[in-house]
Amino acid sequence: MNKMRFVETATLDTTLPKGELYRDLAASLESLLAGESDALANLANASALLAAALTHINWCGFYLVRGEELVLGPFQGKPACVRIPVGKGVCGTAAARRETLVVPDVNAFPGHIACDAASRSEIVVPILENGSLRGVLDTDSPEPARFDEEDRAGLEKFVAVLVPLVRWRSL
Ligand code: SME
Repeated sequence: MNKMRFVETATLDTTLPKGELYRDLAASLESLLAGESDALANLANASALLAAALTHINWCGFYLVRGEELVLGPFQGKPACVRIPVGKGVCGTAAARRETLVVPDVNAFPGHIACDAASRSEIVVPILENGSLRGVLDTDSPEPARFDEEDRAGLEKFVAVLVPLVRWRSL
């Protein structure tokens, strides 16, 4: 069973058009996480899968809600800032608004928090479970305007598949 899951992730074709890539990614995520109940392991694998699937990114991962703050969770990329107040930065703003933020130029976003100086554009998708904010999925790129509406739809789908596969309250 495990072997089958790994075969699926290994066959992701990063050169597919975005719509198809995100469809395959959602299916791979489901297959990779289904049957595993450890929330931390599932978030770790979800970030690794995303990093393997997306080109031209330098960071992707999770910030998790801890009281009034977001705290760094499983990710792929350089070490990042650990605590972000809800309402601050791109992550905290997406969390406060409970909506996806696509930022084509991070230097033009007031209050952007620079974790990796190479980042030029960013997309942050809030993670909501039955109306409760659990965290955000953050993805950064060294290219300006790397993320568009297809990325928004694809990453929102990724989060929608992820939410029921993670025991958020155990984190
Ligand atoms: N740029 C984010 C901070 C997190 S790092 O990009 C990993 C922000 O402004 O919230």
